[in-house]
Amino acid sequence: MTRAVVAGCGSYLPSKIMTNDDLSRMVDTNDTWIRERTGITQRHIAAKGELTSDLAAAAAREALAQAGVSAAEVDTLIVATTTPDDTFPSTAVTVQAKIGATDATAFDLQAVCSGFVYAMKQADALIRSGQAKRVLVIGAETMSRVLDWTDRRTCILFGDGAGAVLLVAEEGTERGILATHTQSDGTLRDILKTTGGTSSTQTAGVVEMNGQEVFRHAVKLMASSGLKALEQAGLTTDDISWLVPHQANARILTSCANKLKLPEEKLVMTVDRHANTSSASIPLALADAVHHNRFSQEDIIVMPALGAGLTWGTCIIRW
Ligand code: COA
Repeated sequence: MTRAVVAGCGSYLPSKIMTNDDLSRMVDTNDTWIRERTGITQRHIAAKGELTSDLAAAAAREALAQAGVSAAEVDTLIVATTTPDDTFPSTAVTVQAKIGATDATAFDLQAVCSGFVYAMKQADALIRSGQAKRVLVIGAETMSRVLDWTDRRTCILFGDGAGAVLLVAEEGTERGILATHTQSDGTLRDILKTTGGTSSTQTAGVVEMNGQEVFRHAVKLMASSGLKALEQAGLTTDDISWLVPHQANARILTSCANKLKLPEEKLVMTVDRHANTSSASIPLALADAVHHNRFSQEDIIVMPALGAGLTWGTCIIRW
């Protein structure tokens, strides 16, 4: 059987850091409120002129270097993003040009905060079916560009960044992607959305959210999706080595870990330093854990996500 194995993992965070205290000088909020309700202490913000494709290209280069694979050897390049550089062409083709992935098929995938999990599912399907051998999956966002910086209910939650993994086809291995579960429900589209877009208003719009509704769905659906993916892989919650969820809010993450009966030591948490970077949050958290040597070969890593749409899903990897 052919499996999609992670050969390299990279990340990029813009150098500018915005703390909760910085935010409290912009809107009526404070560090204590933000920490207690979200666990967030700071977020990275892209510099003027620094684009989603710049963040993505930096993360991609690091993933390729770690894998020892050149950009020219990549056959498929997927960018999961909800904050593309332009309406078209895709951010993925811009990244392709920036890193020199001259032989790749490049495309964007839009599933908001579930984008990375959705992209991993596509990459896995391409590799298992023999249609791809080296797939670069990137989650990259400049969420700061779609925030209303006068709305304290939303602007405190998000940050910018990018993470990338290189998946390679390997035969006869037990490692790699074991299962992917995804689902969506468009009847819930209005609880988390932007106020505009290309066709509707000809502007990108800003984030608008019913926080409590999103919170309720996130805990329930991330945990149930995790269980479905475990069942698909023939595993149980006892087999989980690490839970690396979409980094939305520390309270959502601990509730999700509790529902899966996992001790907090098995939860990889970066939301405190990165805030919610949408489709970039899981690969950023993966890269952070790799950087701190937390994973061992054969570890079972469970990555549930939920995003606007609603979209949700889980990817499970044997590291
Ligand atoms: N600073 C200070 N006070 C704030 C505030 C802020 N940044 N944002 C809201 N408040 C106030 C509200 O105005 C409200 O005041 P009131 O009681 O006088 O009306 C009070 O705090 C409570 O607001 P509420 O919205 O009930 O808070 P909450 O406990 O639900 O927390 C979120 C708000 C956004 C942190 C929480 O709902 C959440 O995390 N939701 C999920 C969001 C998410 O993860 N979205 C992305 C998913 S991919």
